[in-house]
Amino acid sequence: MATLDMESGRTLDSALAAADRALRAVFAPARSSRPTPQPAAAPQELSDSERRTAAALMRVNHTGELAAQALYHGQALFAHSEATRRVLMEAARGESDHLAWCETRLGELAARPSLLNPFWYAGSFAIGALAALMGDRASLGFVAETERQVEGHLDSHLGRLPPSDSRSRAILQTMRSEEIAHGASATRAGGVPLPRPVRALMRRTAAVMTGTAYWI
Ligand SMILES: [Fe+2]
Ligand SMILES: [Fe+2]
Repeated sequence: MATLDMESGRTLDSALAAADRALRAVFAPARSSRPTPQPAAAPQELSDSERRTAAALMRVNHTGELAAQALYHGQALFAHSEATRRVLMEAARGESDHLAWCETRLGELAARPSLLNPFWYAGSFAIGALAALMGDRASLGFVAETERQVEGHLDSHLGRLPPSDSRSRAILQTMRSEEIAHGASATRAGGVPLPRPVRALMRRTAAVMTGTAYWI
């Protein structure tokens, strides 16, 4: 009985910590543990239409970083081993810095984050929790696949950003190299490749999210 009480106490603690992380991620101003990446040369002025395009793209990236963080928080809450939980929380910390960088850039571009962010956080957290129930190796494989898809998405944004927006570009380039590192560490920790239909479903879900966040 005592063991059961301790166990349920731990579960309640973890659930409260997860709720606290969720509220901070969605509603508190994002804080980075590292400075925002800067371009090597002095940035140029953007025209109005360039600013609007850059803002829409950075809003998508901001939502993507929030969703990645929510996935990993959901996966961490239900991870079976402490080692897997550590990999997930380490990746989530990286996404939290990325979120703060995107938020800073959105402010510089005089734009706001997506209004649907609470919805995307909740949905992604639930998907993360489901992924965790498939076992740690599949859950780590889910991280590797998420990061691979984010890398492809960042490549496409690096091509679509106005050429003069070197500030957003510096942020996305740093994010891209860190997403590759997150994916590699999940694979090293034992992540297995996911079945093709799961990968396709992940791609379709992400497309709905990124397509919506561009506008709203
Ligand atoms: Fe990220
Ligand atoms: Fe990542």
